[in-house]
Amino acid sequence: MENQNILEVKNLHTSFFTDKGEVKAVNGVSFNLSRGKVLGVVGESGSGKSVTAYSIMQILADTGRVVEGEILYKGENILNYSKKQMQQFRGKCCSIIFQDPMTSLNPVFTIGYQLMEAILLHTDKNKKEALARSIELLEMVGVNEPAKRIKQYPYELSGGMRQRVMIAMALATEPDILIADEPTTALDVTIQAQILELMQDLQHKLGMAIIIVTHDLGVIASMCDEIIVMYGGRVCERGTADDIFYRPSHEYTKGLLRSIPNVDNIGQKLVPIAGNPINLLNMPKGCAFCARCEEALKICVDEVPPEMQMPDGHYASCWINVMNQLREEGRLKAE
Ligand SMILES: Nc1ncnc2c1ncn2[C@@H]1O[C@H](COP(=O)(O)OP(=O)(O)OP(=O)(O)O)[C@@H](O)[C@H]1O
Ligand SMILES: [Mg+2]
Repeated sequence: MENQNILEVKNLHTSFFTDKGEVKAVNGVSFNLSRGKVLGVVGESGSGKSVTAYSIMQILADTGRVVEGEILYKGENILNYSKKQMQQFRGKCCSIIFQDPMTSLNPVFTIGYQLMEAILLHTDKNKKEALARSIELLEMVGVNEPAKRIKQYPYELSGGMRQRVMIAMALATEPDILIADEPTTALDVTIQAQILELMQDLQHKLGMAIIIVTHDLGVIASMCDEIIVMYGGRVCERGTADDIFYRPSHEYTKGLLRSIPNVDNIGQKLVPIAGNPINLLNMPKGCAFCARCEEALKICVDEVPPEMQMPDGHYASCWINVMNQLREEGRLKAE
């Protein structure tokens, strides 16, 4: 049977080698992306979400390097790709939308020029066909008067419009995978909802797989088939949106849910997770979340928790679950 996973990330470690030492931004991340599915990557600022995305695209800063692991696209390890193969991968197989469209759109070229450039570079269309395709793409992403827009410059468009143009650019080559790195954080709430709706709509129409990166679990939950929760460059929990929302097993995920509005805490005070993110220059020996976890055990300080399958089938990496399981099996004495 054909492999249903279009992308498999296995034990990914990515570090930055700086004057101050090795910044271990990603520390053993694994996940699978099925064809045509939506995967959410959630975690607070600095948890390694973007670095994971950039590792896949191989667009890390000069000081950054994947030091261990595999990234399999249709079963092939793209870390072994040549520069040319990688260029093709970035064009035809996988596209990325960045958080701030102004940093990725070039202010001195028109929208049309930039769209056409992407199409001409990655497809065998001629100029006339590329122009027609640009207009078609703008129409598809809901930009009004596309024939007029292609002659405009990025600054002449609103933030929401610019983000739509970015999506059109990412779709220009009809990739199998679209990575959206915080695609809506720069936008206000109404526009944010419109853009997410558009992405969902396009995903249904075009059947591509999407990785959507965000620090806002509430915003994306409804559109994700699966969610991974990251902390300190590791995956602490992964499962369906329902698993994560209704049956969280990791203390960090529980904390995240307490810090965002949802049906269970209407009228209650939102509780931010206390404490500071870890120092990636000096990773703790055990669980990365340990210092901020109210339930932490002694073993959490000393050893990295293994990933364990929960009774409902989803996965969490937390010693408390492991200990509970051992206790239930009678292999650990209850205190
Ligand atoms: N070029 C770099 N040099 C050194 N450290 C870096 C570099 N880029 C990222 N890092 C570090 O890697 C860690 C993970 O960063 P990353 O950008 O992946 O976080 P993130 O989860 O995307 O956060 P955010 O929600 O703020 O976008 C951070 O601590 C960051 O400081
Ligand atoms: Mg980021």
